[in-house]
Amino acid sequence: MTEAFAPDRLSADKAARYTELAQEIAAVLDGEPNRVARMATVASMLASSFEHFFWTGFYVVDADRPRELVVGPYQGTLGCLRIAFGRGVCGAAAQSRQVQLVDDVHAFPGHIACDARSRSEIVLPVFDPDGTLIAVLDVDATEVAAFDAVDAKGLGLILEQTFGAL
Ligand code: SME
Repeated sequence: MTEAFAPDRLSADKAARYTELAQEIAAVLDGEPNRVARMATVASMLASSFEHFFWTGFYVVDADRPRELVVGPYQGTLGCLRIAFGRGVCGAAAQSRQVQLVDDVHAFPGHIACDARSRSEIVLPVFDPDGTLIAVLDVDATEVAAFDAVDAKGLGLILEQTFGAL
């Protein structure tokens, strides 16, 4: 039998793992200014750091259509290509510029089901050093209620150090 998903057990180590991961990401990206390379690295390193992360990636604000997100670097099954601001969990994060923590995506009005296996998700806004919204980070899990405030804080710090003012 595989080990059961245990959010409580995980959350004890989770904060420490995020701190470690933030350092690992900073080390890998040292001297690399390209934003796509930075997003791809974060998506990949997040995916391989937490077993229950089913989809990790970015939806980027489209330069040509500023009220629309377009898929960026990600790890996981096929994601939908475009999401309008205000639509689904990613669109809500882009519109509100606030973290969206969704315990059960089936209960979220307008949730976009790219993959039916996704059951909970966290989406964070991503800002550049000027405070301009450049993307959202979307992390999905196949378990209900897989994310909490520790994830919001850990992921937020990684985004700030990677894309915000250093
Ligand atoms: N679930 C998201 C759509 C993107 S995917 O899950 C990859 C949403 O409702 O915003």
